[in-house]
Amino acid sequence: MIGNMQLNDEGKLKHFLSIEGLDKCLLTEILDTAESFAGMSAQQVKKVPLLRGKTIVNLFFENSTRTRTTFELAATRLSADVINMNIATSATSKGESLLDTIRNLEAMFVDMFVVRHALSGAAHFIAQQTASHISVINAGDGQHAHPTQAMLDMFTIRQLKPNFSNLRVAIIGDILHSRVARSEIQALNTLGVAEVRVIAPKTLLPAHVESLGVSVSHNLNEGLKDIDVVMMLRLQKERMTSALLPSESEYFKCFGLTEEKLKIAKPDAIVMHPGPINRGVEIDSKVADGPQSVILKQVSNGIAVRMAIMAMAMQTLPSSPGRPVTQAPSLAITGGL
Ligand code: CP
Repeated sequence: MIGNMQLNDEGKLKHFLSIEGLDKCLLTEILDTAESFAGMSAQQVKKVPLLRGKTIVNLFFENSTRTRTTFELAATRLSADVINMNIATSATSKGESLLDTIRNLEAMFVDMFVVRHALSGAAHFIAQQTASHISVINAGDGQHAHPTQAMLDMFTIRQLKPNFSNLRVAIIGDILHSRVARSEIQALNTLGVAEVRVIAPKTLLPAHVESLGVSVSHNLNEGLKDIDVVMMLRLQKERMTSALLPSESEYFKCFGLTEEKLKIAKPDAIVMHPGPINRGVEIDSKVADGPQSVILKQVSNGIAVRMAIMAMAMQTLPSSPGRPVTQAPSLAITGGL
C-alpha cells in the first residue's frame, strides 16, 4: 500500500516514504538522476533552478547531523527556499499535535515536507493527511525505514562496484533496531544483488529475519567470507528496552570490525557505515579511517541523491532520461529554465 501511495497517477514519484513497493526501474532512475547531479559539488556555481519558487520544510523531530544538513544543501542547490523547523523551540513543546503542526505549515503554502520522527509510520501518516500538492520525503521514521540513506548507499556502491548482480553484501550489527538495515535490505534485493547476509548476535536480529530475503550468520569470522561490501551499523542503545548484550567491549571482541577481521572479506571489499560511528564499539578507527572505508563518500553522495529524489518528487526534471541537468549553471544565475 505504501508503494502505491508513493506514486502519482502517472506512476511517477510523488512521496518517498519507503523502498518497499518501488521497483528496480524507479530505483535505477533515482541513481541515474543523482549521477547527473554528482559533479555539481566541483562546479563554481553549485546551483540549478529546478526547485526555484518551491518551499521545503525540514521537520526533524529527532536529532541528525548528516541527513538534515545534506537535505538542506540539496534543496538550496536546487534553488528552493528551505525552512529548518527548530522542533525544540516550536509549539510542539506546548502540546501542539503533529497533525496541527502540519496543517499550520500547509497554510504557509509550502511544497514539501522532509520528515524525521521517532514513530514508525510518521512520514506515511503525514503523506496521507497533507494537501495533495505537497510531497513528503521520509528522512527516517522510528525503526521502520530510512530510504534516502539506502539510496545514497546504493549510489556509493554502484560508483565502485557497478554490477549489482555479482555482489555479496554483509550488514553487521544491530539489525533489530535499525531502520537503515530494513531499507538497505529492500534496496539491495530490488537491485538484484547476489546475496545480502546479516551478521549479528541472535539478540540483535528480528524474529524470522530470513523472510526479509537475507542469509544469516552469528559469527563475524565466518560471515565475512566472500563479501564485497561490508556495511557496519551502530548499536542503537536509545531503542534498546532491555540488556541485549553483556558489554560493549564483549560486543567489539565478537562483532567489531578490525583490520584483521576485514582481511577475511574480499581484498577489494569496501567498508560502509551510515553514521554516526561509535569507534571501538562496532568499528576500529583504523578501519573507519582506512583505505577501504567509503564512509565520507557516502556522506558526500547524500547531496546528489537527495537532490534527485526531491526534483523527481516535485516533477521538475526535463522528461528525457540522461538529461544534462547540471550543465546550465549560467541559466541558474540569469534566471533561465
Ligand atoms: N545516517 C544518518 O541518518 O545520520 P544522521 O542521524 O546524522 O542524520
